[in-house]
Amino acid sequence: MSSMAMKSSATIVILLAAVRISHLSPTPVYSAEEEFEFKLWMSQHNRVYGLEEYYHRLQTFTENKKRIDHHNAGNHKFTMGLNQFSDMTFAEFRKSFLLTEPQNCSATKGGHVSSNGPFPDSVDWREKGNYVTPVKYQGACGSCWSFSTTGCLESATAIASGKLLLLSEQQLVDCAQAFKNKGCNGGLPSQAFEYIKYNKGLMTEDTYPYTARESTCKFHPDLAAAFVKDVVNITMFDEMGMVDAVARLNPVSVAYEVVDDFMHYKDGVYSSTTCRNTTDKVNHAVLAVGYGAQDGTPYWIVKNSWGTTWGKQGYFLMERGKNMCGVAACSSYPLPLV
Ligand SMILES: *[C@@H]1O[C@H](CO)[C@@H](O)[C@H](O)[C@H]1NC(C)=O
Ligand SMILES: *[C@@H]1O[C@H](CO)[C@@H](O)[C@H](O)[C@H]1NC(C)=O
Ligand SMILES: *[C@@H]1O[C@H](CO)[C@@H](O)[C@H](O)[C@H]1NC(C)=O
Repeated sequence: MSSMAMKSSATIVILLAAVRISHLSPTPVYSAEEEFEFKLWMSQHNRVYGLEEYYHRLQTFTENKKRIDHHNAGNHKFTMGLNQFSDMTFAEFRKSFLLTEPQNCSATKGGHVSSNGPFPDSVDWREKGNYVTPVKYQGACGSCWSFSTTGCLESATAIASGKLLLLSEQQLVDCAQAFKNKGCNGGLPSQAFEYIKYNKGLMTEDTYPYTARESTCKFHPDLAAAFVKDVVNITMFDEMGMVDAVARLNPVSVAYEVVDDFMHYKDGVYSSTTCRNTTDKVNHAVLAVGYGAQDGTPYWIVKNSWGTTWGKQGYFLMERGKNMCGVAACSSYPLPLV
C-alpha cells in the first residue's frame, strides 16, 4: 500500500467515526478543538446554557469563528475577533442591538457652517484633554442613539466648561418620545438634542442611572446638569463638513448601517462592500471623536456603546471620505449651554 492510499483510508475511517458521533449530538458541524474554544469563550464571558441551548450556541459560535478566521486569512484593512456577541447570529444581534425601523434622519440643508480650513491631518479628542468619557454599554436595547447623544453633549460641554460629566441615557430612553424617539426601539441624536433643549436639561448617569429598559419618565428639573442652547445638523453627505466640525469644534454624532461583517470588528480601518449609504438605511448611532489616516486610507475614530471588550477597547476606525455605510447621512451636534 502506498502512503497515499494509507492516508485516504485513514481519512475514511475518521469520516466514518464523525458520522457515528453525529448521531449522538444534534449538530455535528464542529470539531473537538472548536468545542474546546467555545468552552474557553464561555468561561471568559461567564456564559451558562442548558443542554439544548449549549449545542445550538456551539454551532453558531463555530460558524462565527470560521467566518472570523476566513476573513483574517484574507487581504483586508481590518481584522475580526471573537467578542461578547460570538454566540449570536447577525439576525439575533440586529434584533437586540440595532435600530430596526427606518429613522428618517435626512437633513437636506443643515445649519453647520464650514470654514475653509486648512484642517489638521489628524484629530483625536481623547488626547486633547479630558473631553471624552469612558466607553459605555447599551445592553440589549436599541438605545444607541441615546449613547451617541450623551457622548456628544458630554464632550461639547467639557470642551466649553472644562468639566467632564457622565450624562443620563436613561432619561432620553424614558422621556424623549415627544421628539420622535422610541426608547429601546430607536431614535436619533438630532431629535434627542432637540428634546434636551426644550426640556431644559439632562440629568447625570448618577442621578438617573441606565437600566437598558424603558420606564416612566423620572426627570427632576433641580438635578439637570447639562443643557443645550441649539441643535446643529450637518447637511447630509457633507463629509468635509463633519471634518470641519470635528477639527474646529467637538466630536460629532453620526449614524450608519451596521451589516454582518461589522459585528466581529476587532482592529484596523473598517470598510464594507455590502452596507448601504442612504439616510433611510442607517441602523446605528455612534460618536466620531477624531480622524486620521493609515497607510493612505483616511478614517474616522469612532466611539461605540458596546462596552470595552468589543473592537479597539470599544472604539473602531471607519473609512472616511466615501460616505462609507452612510456615515455622512445624518450627523449632528449640540451647542451646549454652560
Ligand atoms: C419615518 O417617516 C415615515 C413617513 O413619514 C413614517 O411612517 C415612519 O413612522 C417614520 N419612522 C420613524 C422611525 O420615525
Ligand atoms: C435636524 O434634523 C432632524 C432630522 O434628523 C430634524 O428633525 C430637525 O428639525 C433638524 N434640526 C435643525 C435645527 O435643522
Ligand atoms: C452610495 O454608493 C454608491 C455606490 O455603491 C455611489 O454610487 C453613490 O454615489 C453613493 N451615494 C452617496 C450619497 O454617497
